[in-house]
Amino acid sequence: MNLDCPKGDHFRNGHNGFAHGRSHAAGAAPSGRGAGLHVFLGLPALIRSQAMSRVLELAERAARIQAAVLITGESGCGKELVARAIHHFSLRCARPWVDISCAALPDHLVESELFGHEKGAFSGAEAAKAGLFELAHGGTLFLDEVGELDPRMQVKLLRVLDGTPYYRLGGVRKVNVDVRLVAATNLDLEQAMKTGRFRRDLYHRLSEVHIAVPPLRERPEDIGPLAEFFLSRQEPSLRFSPEALAALRGYPWPGNVRELRNMVVKTALSVPGPVIEPADLHPTIRNGRSNGGGNHRTATLESMERQAILKTLTETRGHHRRAADLLGISPRTLRRKLKLYESQGVGCHAG
Ligand SMILES: Nc1ncnc2c1ncn2[C@@H]1O[C@H](COP(=O)(O)OP(=O)(O)O)[C@@H](O)[C@H]1O
Ligand SMILES: [Mg+2]
Repeated sequence: MNLDCPKGDHFRNGHNGFAHGRSHAAGAAPSGRGAGLHVFLGLPALIRSQAMSRVLELAERAARIQAAVLITGESGCGKELVARAIHHFSLRCARPWVDISCAALPDHLVESELFGHEKGAFSGAEAAKAGLFELAHGGTLFLDEVGELDPRMQVKLLRVLDGTPYYRLGGVRKVNVDVRLVAATNLDLEQAMKTGRFRRDLYHRLSEVHIAVPPLRERPEDIGPLAEFFLSRQEPSLRFSPEALAALRGYPWPGNVRELRNMVVKTALSVPGPVIEPADLHPTIRNGRSNGGGNHRTATLESMERQAILKTLTETRGHHRRAADLLGISPRTLRRKLKLYESQGVGCHAG
């Protein structure tokens, strides 16, 4: 597999202002220490497991055609990395990359962000502004957390994706753009379509190619290399003992790679010695290893509850409502407990 951007020279010369690293050097096939490191739009990515190599291959194939791509997977598992890889592998790689999180903005702002507005279109619109679709012309627009789009925006997006020209808010001039759309979500869109929260026609339009990124616990062979990679960037003089690495592999990582990276950064800041031992890890991670091992005699009620919650979240693939149902608690209580664990340093971003 050729991992170069088809127009890689633009990139190497710093086109678009993005730093470009070692992606020209390594193939996707894992072959020994250090192999599998790529950089997509300045984000270094370690691709080691067969599962992630397959995801990357699919991303490369999708990149070569014009199809819209939907990337699904739990929070923190690498969906944005895959989206950036698609742009990197595509013929559009020297053209703009534009991204927006549909969850980060209130509904009424999403429309003007995406489609732009003319001066005076609404109170506060003191100057005309191009929308992200226009800014992404010729390139790639990444709609993150697309499951959060409100129903009115879903209709408008579908029309634009079907090739209907649109107007900026308050505009009279039709806008035509050539944009490749990549969307991502951690929501269960099947469920959202059943309840009518997400339009089925939009789903089909967005998912001409569907890439499912597996959660970290389904590719445990990635845990050690990723932990060592994050540690070497944070504090090159530190390393994990084999026992600490085994503990990391035994924990289900409901917050996926993001949680792993945060844990490594926190641990690196608090451990003085050259070697990180299991005792230096957060108790929940150490306990994660004893899951099912019958080693609970000294566990507190609180830590058993935490384990039950994390295990159920793992079983429901991060689905909060289903996990709450299974545990016999309300989704609100579940959210409160997850917030507490996060404040204790065991981030639970799944779902
Ligand atoms: N394979 C990987 N190699 C290196 N970093 C990764 C990898 N996968 C995820 N990350 C990092 O983990 C964090 C979460 O990844 P991201 O792509 O934002 O996840 P998602 O979009 O699914 O929430 C980011 O900081 C990202 O750079
Ligand atoms: Mg994300």
